Amino acid sequence: MVTEVEDLTTITADNVTTTEVKNKRPERKSGNYIMDVINKSNTVHIVFSMKEEVGALADALQIFKDNGVNLYRIESRSSKRFKDDYEFLVECCGGNSLNSALDQIKPLAHYLQVISRDQTLTDSTVPWFPNRIRDLDRFANHILSYGSELDADHPGFKDEKYRVRRKYFADLAYNYKHGQRLPHIDYTDEETATWAIVFSNLTKLYETHACREHNHIFPLMIANCGYREDNIPQLEDVSNFLKDCTGFILRPVAGLLSSRDFLAGLAFRVFHTTQYIRHPSMPLYTPEPDICHELLGHAPLFADPSFANFSQEIGLASLGAPDDYIEKLATCYWFTVEYGLCKQNGQIKAYGAGLLSGYGELEYCLSGKPDIRPFDPYVTCNQKYPITQYQPIYFLSESFEDAQQKLRDFAQSIPRSFTVRYNPYTQGLEIINSNVQLETMARNIQSEVQLLVDAMKKIH
Ligand SMILES: [Fe+2]
Repeated sequence: MVTEVEDLTTITADNVTTTEVKNKRPERKSGNYIMDVINKSNTVHIVFSMKEEVGALADALQIFKDNGVNLYRIESRSSKRFKDDYEFLVECCGGNSLNSALDQIKPLAHYLQVISRDQTLTDSTVPWFPNRIRDLDRFANHILSYGSELDADHPGFKDEKYRVRRKYFADLAYNYKHGQRLPHIDYTDEETATWAIVFSNLTKLYETHACREHNHIFPLMIANCGYREDNIPQLEDVSNFLKDCTGFILRPVAGLLSSRDFLAGLAFRVFHTTQYIRHPSMPLYTPEPDICHELLGHAPLFADPSFANFSQEIGLASLGAPDDYIEKLATCYWFTVEYGLCKQNGQIKAYGAGLLSGYGELEYCLSGKPDIRPFDPYVTCNQKYPITQYQPIYFLSESFEDAQQKLRDFAQSIPRSFTVRYNPYTQGLEIINSNVQLETMARNIQSEVQLLVDAMKKIH
Protein backbone atom coordinates (compact mmCIF):
# COMPACT_ATOMS: atom_id res chain seq x y z
CA MET A 1 0.00 0.00 0.00
CA VAL A 2 1.47 3.32 -1.02
CA THR A 3 0.78 6.32 1.14
CA GLU A 4 1.87 9.79 0.23
CA VAL A 5 0.98 12.21 2.93
CA GLU A 6 2.79 15.42 3.69
CA ASP A 7 4.24 15.89 7.18
CA LEU A 8 3.71 12.29 8.18
CA THR A 9 6.06 9.68 9.54
CA THR A 10 5.38 5.98 9.18
CA ILE A 11 6.22 3.22 11.65
CA THR A 12 5.65 -0.41 10.71
CA ALA A 13 5.22 -3.21 13.24
CA ASP A 14 3.40 -6.53 13.19
CA ASN A 15 1.68 -5.96 9.89
CA VAL A 16 0.19 -2.71 11.20
CA THR A 17 1.24 0.59 9.76
CA THR A 18 0.88 3.53 12.10
CA THR A 19 1.10 7.02 10.72
CA GLU A 20 1.38 9.95 13.09
CA VAL A 21 1.24 13.62 12.39
CA LYS A 22 4.58 15.23 13.20
CA ASN A 23 6.27 18.60 12.90
CA LYS A 24 2.92 20.33 13.23
CA ARG A 25 3.29 23.66 14.95
CA PRO A 26 0.86 23.60 17.90
CA GLU A 27 -2.05 25.83 17.04
CA ARG A 28 -2.71 28.71 19.41
CA LYS A 29 -6.28 28.42 20.51
CA SER A 30 -8.63 30.19 22.87
CA GLY A 31 -7.87 33.54 24.39
CA ASN A 32 -4.81 32.26 26.17
CA TYR A 33 -1.47 30.83 25.21
CA ILE A 34 -1.78 27.35 26.68
CA MET A 35 -0.44 24.82 24.21
CA ASP A 36 -3.33 22.62 23.26
CA VAL A 37 -2.17 19.08 22.65
CA ILE A 38 -4.81 16.56 21.61
CA ASN A 39 -7.96 16.94 23.66
CA LYS A 40 -8.79 13.26 23.99
CA SER A 41 -12.36 13.96 25.02
CA ASN A 42 -12.97 15.50 21.60
CA THR A 43 -11.31 12.89 19.45
CA VAL A 44 -13.15 10.39 17.32
CA HIS A 45 -11.92 7.08 15.91
CA ILE A 46 -13.08 5.99 12.48
CA VAL A 47 -12.53 2.53 11.06
CA PHE A 48 -13.14 2.09 7.35
CA SER A 49 -12.07 -0.32 4.65
CA MET A 50 -11.31 0.31 0.98
CA LYS A 51 -10.17 -1.81 -1.92
CA GLU A 52 -6.42 -2.33 -1.89
CA GLU A 53 -5.22 -0.18 -4.74
CA VAL A 54 -2.61 2.51 -5.17
CA GLY A 55 -3.68 5.90 -3.87
CA ALA A 56 -6.82 4.75 -2.05
CA LEU A 57 -5.67 6.05 1.32
CA ALA A 58 -4.39 9.28 -0.22
CA ASP A 59 -7.84 9.84 -1.72
CA ALA A 60 -9.48 9.31 1.67
CA LEU A 61 -7.00 11.60 3.41
CA GLN A 62 -7.65 14.26 0.83
CA ILE A 63 -11.33 14.20 1.85
CA PHE A 64 -10.39 14.88 5.48
CA LYS A 65 -8.07 17.66 4.36
CA ASP A 66 -10.69 19.23 2.11
CA ASN A 67 -13.14 19.32 5.00
CA GLY A 68 -10.61 20.78 7.44
CA VAL A 69 -10.60 17.73 9.73
CA ASN A 70 -7.41 17.48 11.82
CA LEU A 71 -5.95 13.96 11.86
CA TYR A 72 -3.97 12.84 14.88
CA ARG A 73 -3.19 9.20 14.00
CA ILE A 74 -3.61 6.79 11.11
CA GLU A 75 -3.23 3.00 11.15
CA SER A 76 -3.67 0.57 8.29
CA ARG A 77 -3.72 -3.22 7.86
CA SER A 78 -5.14 -5.92 5.61
CA SER A 79 -8.84 -6.28 6.19
CA LYS A 80 -10.14 -9.42 7.84
CA ARG A 81 -13.70 -8.54 6.81
CA PHE A 82 -13.18 -8.08 3.08
CA LYS A 83 -10.67 -9.91 0.93
CA ASP A 84 -8.48 -7.53 -1.11
CA ASP A 85 -9.44 -4.64 1.14
CA TYR A 86 -7.27 -2.52 3.38
CA GLU A 87 -8.69 -1.32 6.66
CA PHE A 88 -7.82 2.06 8.15
CA LEU A 89 -8.19 3.47 11.63
CA VAL A 90 -8.13 7.25 11.82
CA GLU A 91 -8.10 9.31 14.99
CA CYS A 92 -9.29 12.84 14.40
CA CYS A 93 -11.24 15.76 15.81
CA GLY A 94 -15.05 15.62 15.84
CA GLY A 95 -17.60 18.20 14.75
CA ASN A 96 -19.73 19.08 11.75
CA SER A 97 -16.75 19.12 9.37
CA LEU A 98 -16.18 15.47 10.26
CA ASN A 99 -19.78 14.63 9.44
CA SER A 100 -19.27 16.20 6.04
CA ALA A 101 -16.07 14.18 5.47
CA LEU A 102 -17.84 10.98 6.52
CA ASP A 103 -20.60 11.61 4.01
CA GLN A 104 -17.97 11.68 1.25
CA ILE A 105 -16.07 8.64 2.48
CA LYS A 106 -19.13 6.40 2.91
CA PRO A 107 -19.65 5.82 -0.85
CA LEU A 108 -15.97 4.82 -1.22
CA ALA A 109 -15.80 2.49 1.77
CA HIS A 110 -17.03 -1.10 2.06
CA TYR A 111 -17.18 -0.75 5.81
CA LEU A 112 -17.26 2.29 8.09
CA GLN A 113 -17.60 2.58 11.84
CA VAL A 114 -17.35 5.67 14.02
CA ILE A 115 -16.16 5.19 17.59
CA SER A 116 -16.48 8.18 19.89
CA ARG A 117 -16.62 8.83 23.61
CA ASP A 118 -18.90 11.72 22.89
CA GLN A 119 -21.94 11.00 20.80
CA THR A 120 -22.70 14.69 20.41
CA LEU A 121 -19.55 15.14 18.36
CA THR A 122 -20.59 12.64 15.71
CA ASP A 123 -24.33 13.07 15.92
CA SER A 124 -25.31 15.16 12.92
CA THR A 125 -28.62 16.02 14.61
CA VAL A 126 -26.75 18.23 17.10
CA PRO A 127 -26.06 21.60 15.45
CA TRP A 128 -22.43 22.71 15.55
CA PHE A 129 -21.48 25.09 18.31
CA PRO A 130 -18.20 26.76 19.23
CA ASN A 131 -16.04 25.03 21.82
CA ARG A 132 -13.58 27.81 22.44
CA ILE A 133 -13.85 31.56 22.39
CA ARG A 134 -11.64 31.69 19.29
CA ASP A 135 -14.19 29.50 17.47
CA LEU A 136 -16.46 32.56 17.35
CA ASP A 137 -14.30 33.66 14.40
CA ARG A 138 -15.81 30.77 12.45
CA PHE A 139 -19.34 32.18 12.38
CA ALA A 140 -18.74 35.89 12.99
CA ASN A 141 -19.14 36.52 9.28
CA HIS A 142 -22.07 34.18 8.69
CA ILE A 143 -24.30 37.21 8.65
CA LEU A 144 -27.86 37.29 7.44
CA SER A 145 -27.48 40.80 6.01
CA TYR A 146 -24.36 42.96 5.66
CA GLY A 147 -24.34 46.15 7.72
CA SER A 148 -24.25 48.35 4.63
CA GLU A 149 -27.35 46.81 3.04
CA LEU A 150 -30.15 49.19 3.92
CA ASP A 151 -33.85 48.63 3.32
CA ALA A 152 -35.75 51.09 1.13
CA ASP A 153 -37.50 52.57 4.19
CA HIS A 154 -34.23 53.11 6.11
CA PRO A 155 -33.62 56.81 6.89
CA GLY A 156 -30.19 56.56 5.23
CA PHE A 157 -31.26 54.59 2.15
CA LYS A 158 -30.81 57.49 -0.28
CA ASP A 159 -27.78 58.99 1.48
CA GLU A 160 -24.74 57.77 -0.47
CA LYS A 161 -22.26 59.23 2.03
CA TYR A 162 -23.98 57.43 4.90
CA ARG A 163 -23.99 54.15 2.95
CA VAL A 164 -20.25 54.43 2.28
CA ARG A 165 -19.69 55.05 5.98
CA ARG A 166 -21.81 52.03 6.90
CA LYS A 167 -19.74 49.87 4.57
CA TYR A 168 -16.58 51.14 6.27
CA PHE A 169 -17.90 49.93 9.66
CA ALA A 170 -19.11 46.64 8.22
CA ASP A 171 -15.73 45.95 6.61
CA LEU A 172 -13.88 46.70 9.85
CA ALA A 173 -16.02 44.19 11.71
CA TYR A 174 -15.81 41.65 8.91
CA ASN A 175 -12.02 41.57 9.12
CA TYR A 176 -11.89 41.42 12.93
CA LYS A 177 -10.45 38.33 14.63
CA HIS A 178 -10.65 37.35 18.28
CA GLY A 179 -7.76 38.72 20.31
CA GLN A 180 -7.22 41.82 18.18
CA ARG A 181 -7.76 45.30 19.54
CA LEU A 182 -11.25 46.55 18.81
CA PRO A 183 -11.23 49.05 15.93
CA HIS A 184 -10.64 52.66 16.99
CA ILE A 185 -13.08 55.00 15.28
CA ASP A 186 -12.59 58.67 14.58
CA TYR A 187 -16.26 59.63 14.69
CA THR A 188 -17.19 62.66 12.61
CA ASP A 189 -18.66 65.83 14.11
CA GLU A 190 -22.01 64.92 12.57
CA GLU A 191 -21.94 61.46 14.17
CA THR A 192 -20.97 62.91 17.54
CA ALA A 193 -23.81 65.43 17.27
CA THR A 194 -26.28 62.58 16.73
CA TRP A 195 -24.87 60.78 19.77
CA ALA A 196 -25.19 63.98 21.83
CA ILE A 197 -28.93 64.24 21.12
CA VAL A 198 -29.54 60.62 22.11
CA PHE A 199 -27.26 60.87 25.15
CA SER A 200 -28.79 64.05 26.55
CA ASN A 201 -32.38 62.87 26.10
CA LEU A 202 -31.92 59.43 27.62
CA THR A 203 -29.75 60.39 30.58
CA LYS A 204 -32.55 62.67 31.78
CA LEU A 205 -34.79 59.64 32.23
CA TYR A 206 -32.36 57.16 33.75
CA GLU A 207 -32.68 58.29 37.35
CA THR A 208 -36.43 57.69 37.42
CA HIS A 209 -36.85 54.91 34.84
CA ALA A 210 -33.69 52.78 34.81
CA CYS A 211 -33.02 49.92 37.22
CA ARG A 212 -30.72 50.35 40.21
CA GLU A 213 -27.86 48.42 38.56
CA HIS A 214 -27.84 50.65 35.48
CA ASN A 215 -27.84 53.78 37.59
CA HIS A 216 -24.99 52.43 39.70
CA ILE A 217 -22.81 51.49 36.72
CA PHE A 218 -23.51 54.38 34.36
CA PRO A 219 -21.49 56.97 36.36
CA LEU A 220 -18.61 54.49 36.44
CA MET A 221 -18.68 54.33 32.66
CA ILE A 222 -18.66 58.11 32.49
CA ALA A 223 -15.57 58.05 34.70
CA ASN A 224 -13.79 55.15 33.00
CA CYS A 225 -14.96 54.75 29.42
CA GLY A 226 -15.37 58.24 27.99
CA TYR A 227 -19.18 58.37 28.20
CA ARG A 228 -19.89 62.04 27.54
CA GLU A 229 -22.39 64.01 25.55
CA ASP A 230 -19.62 65.25 23.23
CA ASN A 231 -17.82 61.91 22.87
CA ILE A 232 -18.81 58.52 21.50
CA PRO A 233 -16.94 55.97 23.63
CA GLN A 234 -14.56 53.55 21.94
CA LEU A 235 -15.56 49.88 22.06
CA GLU A 236 -12.07 48.94 23.24
CA ASP A 237 -12.42 51.10 26.37
CA VAL A 238 -15.90 49.80 27.13
CA SER A 239 -14.90 46.19 26.53
CA ASN A 240 -11.90 46.51 28.85
CA PHE A 241 -14.13 47.99 31.55
CA LEU A 242 -16.66 45.15 31.23
CA LYS A 243 -13.89 42.58 31.29
CA ASP A 244 -12.62 43.99 34.56
CA CYS A 245 -16.13 43.88 36.05
CA THR A 246 -17.59 40.56 34.88
CA GLY A 247 -15.38 39.07 32.17
CA PHE A 248 -17.79 40.13 29.41
CA ILE A 249 -16.17 41.50 26.27
CA LEU A 250 -17.46 43.19 23.13
CA ARG A 251 -16.88 41.99 19.61
CA PRO A 252 -17.72 44.00 16.47
CA VAL A 253 -20.20 42.44 14.09
CA ALA A 254 -20.58 43.21 10.39
CA GLY A 255 -24.31 42.59 10.17
CA LEU A 256 -27.20 40.59 11.48
CA LEU A 257 -26.26 37.24 13.02
CA SER A 258 -28.64 34.30 13.31
CA SER A 259 -30.16 33.86 16.77
CA ARG A 260 -28.17 30.67 17.23
CA ASP A 261 -24.84 32.35 16.55
CA PHE A 262 -25.64 35.49 18.53
CA LEU A 263 -26.73 33.49 21.59
CA ALA A 264 -23.65 31.26 21.32
CA GLY A 265 -21.49 34.35 21.81
CA LEU A 266 -23.19 35.00 25.16
CA ALA A 267 -22.12 31.53 26.33
CA PHE A 268 -18.53 32.81 26.17
CA ARG A 269 -19.42 36.18 27.70
CA VAL A 270 -18.98 37.79 24.30
CA PHE A 271 -21.47 40.39 23.14
CA HIS A 272 -21.59 41.05 19.41
CA THR A 273 -21.96 44.77 18.89
CA THR A 274 -22.35 47.29 16.11
CA GLN A 275 -20.09 50.34 15.89
CA TYR A 276 -21.88 52.63 13.43
CA ILE A 277 -24.40 55.27 14.43
CA ARG A 278 -27.95 55.87 13.21
CA HIS A 279 -28.76 58.31 10.40
CA PRO A 280 -28.57 61.98 11.53
CA SER A 281 -31.98 62.81 10.03
CA MET A 282 -33.75 60.83 12.79
CA PRO A 283 -31.55 60.91 15.92
CA LEU A 284 -34.22 59.44 18.21
CA TYR A 285 -35.07 56.57 15.91
CA THR A 286 -33.15 53.64 14.48
CA PRO A 287 -34.58 50.61 12.69
CA GLU A 288 -31.60 48.46 13.80
CA PRO A 289 -29.17 48.33 16.71
CA ASP A 290 -26.48 51.03 16.52
CA ILE A 291 -23.71 52.26 18.81
CA CYS A 292 -26.24 54.25 20.91
CA HIS A 293 -28.29 51.11 21.50
CA GLU A 294 -25.21 49.01 22.32
CA LEU A 295 -23.39 51.46 24.59
CA LEU A 296 -26.31 53.15 26.34
CA GLY A 297 -28.71 50.21 26.41
CA HIS A 298 -26.63 47.04 26.67
CA ALA A 299 -23.13 47.75 27.89
CA PRO A 300 -23.81 49.08 31.42
CA LEU A 301 -25.77 45.98 32.49
CA PHE A 302 -23.02 43.62 31.31
CA ALA A 303 -20.91 45.14 34.08
CA ASP A 304 -23.36 43.77 36.67
CA PRO A 305 -22.37 40.26 37.85
CA SER A 306 -25.93 38.94 38.23
CA PHE A 307 -27.04 40.25 34.86
CA ALA A 308 -23.86 38.88 33.25
CA ASN A 309 -24.59 35.44 34.73
CA PHE A 310 -28.18 35.59 33.50
CA SER A 311 -27.08 36.54 29.97
CA GLN A 312 -24.50 33.77 29.85
CA GLU A 313 -27.14 31.31 31.08
CA ILE A 314 -29.23 32.00 27.96
CA GLY A 315 -26.16 31.48 25.80
CA LEU A 316 -25.20 28.19 27.43
CA ALA A 317 -28.76 26.91 27.13
CA SER A 318 -28.66 27.59 23.38
CA LEU A 319 -25.61 25.48 22.56
CA GLY A 320 -26.62 22.52 20.41
CA ALA A 321 -30.31 23.17 21.15
CA PRO A 322 -32.89 22.24 18.48
CA ASP A 323 -34.08 25.08 16.24
CA ASP A 324 -37.46 25.46 17.95
CA TYR A 325 -35.74 25.93 21.31
CA ILE A 326 -33.37 28.51 19.81
CA GLU A 327 -36.47 30.48 18.88
CA LYS A 328 -37.85 30.11 22.41
CA LEU A 329 -34.56 31.25 23.94
CA ALA A 330 -34.32 34.17 21.50
CA THR A 331 -37.83 35.18 22.60
CA CYS A 332 -36.79 35.01 26.26
CA TYR A 333 -33.75 37.12 25.35
CA TRP A 334 -36.05 39.63 23.65
CA PHE A 335 -38.32 40.01 26.67
CA THR A 336 -35.46 40.25 29.16
CA VAL A 337 -32.13 41.55 27.82
CA GLU A 338 -33.88 43.73 25.22
CA TYR A 339 -37.20 44.70 26.81
CA GLY A 340 -37.09 43.46 30.40
CA LEU A 341 -38.62 45.15 33.42
CA CYS A 342 -37.78 44.38 37.03
CA LYS A 343 -39.22 45.08 40.45
CA GLN A 344 -37.14 47.19 42.84
CA ASN A 345 -38.30 48.66 46.17
CA GLY A 346 -41.93 48.17 45.16
CA GLN A 347 -41.46 50.00 41.87
CA ILE A 348 -41.11 48.81 38.29
CA LYS A 349 -37.88 49.77 36.53
CA ALA A 350 -36.46 49.13 33.08
CA TYR A 351 -33.37 47.03 32.45
CA GLY A 352 -33.84 45.99 28.79
CA ALA A 353 -31.47 47.63 26.30
CA GLY A 354 -34.25 48.43 23.85
CA LEU A 355 -35.89 50.48 26.60
CA LEU A 356 -32.74 52.10 28.00
CA SER A 357 -31.76 53.24 24.51
CA GLY A 358 -35.25 54.18 23.30
CA TYR A 359 -36.35 57.59 24.49
CA GLY A 360 -40.06 57.23 23.72
CA GLU A 361 -40.47 53.63 24.79
CA LEU A 362 -38.58 54.14 28.07
CA GLU A 363 -41.32 56.55 29.12
CA TYR A 364 -44.11 54.45 27.62
CA CYS A 365 -43.14 51.14 29.29
CA LEU A 366 -43.63 52.65 32.76
CA SER A 367 -46.71 54.71 31.84
CA GLY A 368 -49.17 52.14 33.14
CA LYS A 369 -50.57 51.58 29.63
CA PRO A 370 -48.81 48.36 28.54
CA ASP A 371 -49.68 44.88 29.77
CA ILE A 372 -46.99 43.75 32.27
CA ARG A 373 -46.78 40.02 33.12
CA PRO A 374 -44.48 38.00 35.38
CA PHE A 375 -41.43 36.56 33.64
CA ASP A 376 -41.84 32.83 33.29
CA PRO A 377 -39.65 31.31 30.55
CA TYR A 378 -42.21 28.56 29.86
CA VAL A 379 -44.81 31.24 29.05
CA THR A 380 -42.58 34.06 27.83
CA CYS A 381 -40.86 31.85 25.25
CA ASN A 382 -44.10 31.50 23.28
CA GLN A 383 -45.14 35.16 23.31
CA LYS A 384 -45.25 36.82 19.87
CA TYR A 385 -43.90 40.37 19.62
CA PRO A 386 -43.64 43.26 17.16
CA ILE A 387 -40.18 44.58 16.26
CA THR A 388 -41.07 47.92 14.67
CA GLN A 389 -43.35 49.38 17.33
CA TYR A 390 -43.61 49.69 21.11
CA GLN A 391 -44.14 46.35 22.85
CA PRO A 392 -47.76 45.76 23.89
CA ILE A 393 -46.59 43.26 26.55
CA TYR A 394 -43.61 43.39 28.88
CA PHE A 395 -42.35 40.74 31.30
CA LEU A 396 -41.37 41.56 34.85
CA SER A 397 -38.51 39.80 36.67
CA GLU A 398 -38.29 39.73 40.47
CA SER A 399 -34.50 40.02 40.19
CA PHE A 400 -31.71 38.96 37.85
CA GLU A 401 -30.93 36.03 40.15
CA ASP A 402 -34.57 34.93 40.04
CA ALA A 403 -34.65 35.26 36.24
CA GLN A 404 -31.43 33.25 35.98
CA GLN A 405 -32.80 30.44 38.17
CA LYS A 406 -36.02 30.31 36.16
CA LEU A 407 -34.07 30.20 32.93
CA ARG A 408 -31.80 27.46 34.29
CA ASP A 409 -34.91 25.41 35.15
CA PHE A 410 -36.29 26.06 31.67
CA ALA A 411 -32.99 24.97 30.12
CA GLN A 412 -33.49 21.55 31.73
CA SER A 413 -36.48 21.06 29.43
CA ILE A 414 -34.34 21.53 26.29
CA PRO A 415 -33.78 18.11 24.72
CA ARG A 416 -29.99 17.78 24.73
CA SER A 417 -28.05 14.57 25.24
CA PHE A 418 -25.14 16.29 26.96
CA THR A 419 -24.32 18.71 29.73
CA VAL A 420 -22.12 21.66 28.93
CA ARG A 421 -20.06 23.79 31.28
CA TYR A 422 -18.04 26.95 30.67
CA ASN A 423 -14.47 26.97 31.91
CA PRO A 424 -13.52 30.61 32.57
CA TYR A 425 -9.82 29.74 32.87
CA THR A 426 -9.57 28.41 29.32
CA GLN A 427 -12.56 30.34 27.96
CA GLY A 428 -13.72 27.05 26.55
CA LEU A 429 -16.63 24.67 26.95
CA GLU A 430 -16.50 21.29 28.59
CA ILE A 431 -18.92 18.56 27.66
CA ILE A 432 -19.48 16.69 30.92
CA ASN A 433 -19.61 13.06 29.87
CA SER A 434 -17.16 11.07 31.94
CA ASN A 435 -16.70 9.96 35.54
CA VAL A 436 -13.31 11.68 35.62
CA GLN A 437 -14.96 15.02 34.86
CA LEU A 438 -17.63 14.41 37.51
CA GLU A 439 -14.91 13.65 40.06
CA THR A 440 -13.03 16.83 39.10
CA MET A 441 -16.22 18.87 39.45
CA ALA A 442 -16.94 17.31 42.84
CA ARG A 443 -13.39 18.11 44.02
CA ASN A 444 -13.75 21.71 42.84
CA ILE A 445 -17.06 22.08 44.68
CA GLN A 446 -15.50 20.52 47.79
CA SER A 447 -12.65 23.02 47.58
CA GLU A 448 -15.12 25.92 47.22
CA VAL A 449 -17.14 24.70 50.22
CA GLN A 450 -13.98 24.48 52.33
CA LEU A 451 -13.12 28.04 51.29
CA LEU A 452 -16.65 29.12 52.22
CA VAL A 453 -16.47 27.47 55.65
CA ASP A 454 -13.06 29.00 56.29
CA ALA A 455 -14.25 32.48 55.27
CA MET A 456 -17.40 32.15 57.43
CA LYS A 457 -15.31 31.19 60.45
CA LYS A 458 -13.06 34.20 60.00
CA ILE A 459 -15.90 36.64 59.39
CA HIS A 460 -17.79 35.46 62.48
FE1 LIG B 1 -29.95 44.82 21.46
